[in-house]
Amino acid sequence: MTGETEAELTGAEPSRNRRRPKAPIMEIEGRKLKPATLMMGHGYDPTLSEGSLKPPIFLTSTFAFESAAAGKRHFEGVTGLRPGGAEGLVYSRFNGPNQEIAEDRLSVWEEAEDALLFSSGMSAIATTLLALVQPGDVIVHSAPLYAATESLIGRILGRFGVQWLDFPAGATDGEIGAVLEKAKGMGRVALIYLESPANPTNVLVDLEAVVARRDTLFAGGDHQPPIAIDNTFLGPLWHHPLAHGADLVIYSLTKYAGGHSDLVAGGVLGSDALINTIRLMRNTIGTILDPHSAWMLLRSLETLELRMSRAGENAAKVCAWLKDQPQVEKVVYLGFPDNERQADIYRRHCTGAGSTFSLYLKGGEAEAFAFLDALKIAKLAVSLGGTETLASHPAAMTHLSVPAERKKALSIGDNMVRISIGCEDADDLIADFAQALRAMGG
Ligand SMILES: Cc1ncc(COP(=O)(O)O)c(C=O)c1O
Repeated sequence: MTGETEAELTGAEPSRNRRRPKAPIMEIEGRKLKPATLMMGHGYDPTLSEGSLKPPIFLTSTFAFESAAAGKRHFEGVTGLRPGGAEGLVYSRFNGPNQEIAEDRLSVWEEAEDALLFSSGMSAIATTLLALVQPGDVIVHSAPLYAATESLIGRILGRFGVQWLDFPAGATDGEIGAVLEKAKGMGRVALIYLESPANPTNVLVDLEAVVARRDTLFAGGDHQPPIAIDNTFLGPLWHHPLAHGADLVIYSLTKYAGGHSDLVAGGVLGSDALINTIRLMRNTIGTILDPHSAWMLLRSLETLELRMSRAGENAAKVCAWLKDQPQVEKVVYLGFPDNERQADIYRRHCTGAGSTFSLYLKGGEAEAFAFLDALKIAKLAVSLGGTETLASHPAAMTHLSVPAERKKALSIGDNMVRISIGCEDADDLIADFAQALRAMGG
């Protein structure tokens, strides 16, 4: 940023992004429209694109300015001299119509002031951390986190002098407070980073308790650490963290939002102020999503509620059946909370139990592998949130690099299988799991 003042900025009339409707329809006669309705058209005016009902894919690396003054004004937005990003289209590393329509629609689900799209969930997380954290700062996080997020904080940011402290996902109010207090003594607490439920243990974090502790401990100070939460497993349908006091919501949109296992994308939602800071970092390092994937995401958002609702209903049926099978040790599914504290967090924060859960089989790796190899409908693959059911073995796959001690502490055992239920017929899935359990032998 230069020292240029607001008075020196161009006075030209803002040239709005042409595809954005001047007055988006968010309500009809006082009735606030639901996200499922807004996903079909919000943020796009067909008359600005030759009447094309669906937004065209804008495959261009750069955009022609209406005038030199407009170009200057747009760059004031891109470089952060004027908050809120560019008011027009500039260059595809900064913005693009497909990305902006998808960002507007994503914001709807959490009533966020603004949203940003990224080339993956990890690039969303990395860009956010780079934007908010400086050498010497402390990050407080819940544990476990998605393995790559843990590596990014511990191994990569650690190389640049960033410190971290964690608390277990299911921690009590008091435990959360104690860790925050200790972190405050170590340096500037730049960020509180949560993942709820934790991957792959499915343990929920008490976000409201974290907010209350943060507010008390940092009251009156000149810096209140923002709270960011990875909502990939439950969002955007079953958990709305901004409504519970989080400042930023982070997504791997590769999962439920993309929903068809055919794209990789990430998102960050939150207040204008925080999003502006993160946007500047995205503009600099170029972690924006490409137009084609943004278009695919728009297609996916149209059916998000249908897909997630169906997958959630299927998971409830499948889990109710699985937990009574003789080959099953336990099913860790949010619909059957492990203890009263988890049940309480669930009641206060969630509107649904999701469709991803952990299945602990009787036996070890051999039995788990036999079960996985026998599946006929469910696919043996990592990831989650797609229309098709997926099953994987965290200890040998996504969490292979986690040290044995930590795996043990987190209950990532050799007998654990992670399952993401899709939109198939629930009874067909039960038939598949029944024959796979029988194939385990023993
Ligand atoms: C909870 C969670 N956060 C972040 C990520 C990273 O997302 P991506 O693979 O889109 O980079 C994943 C991927 O599995 C995840 O499960």
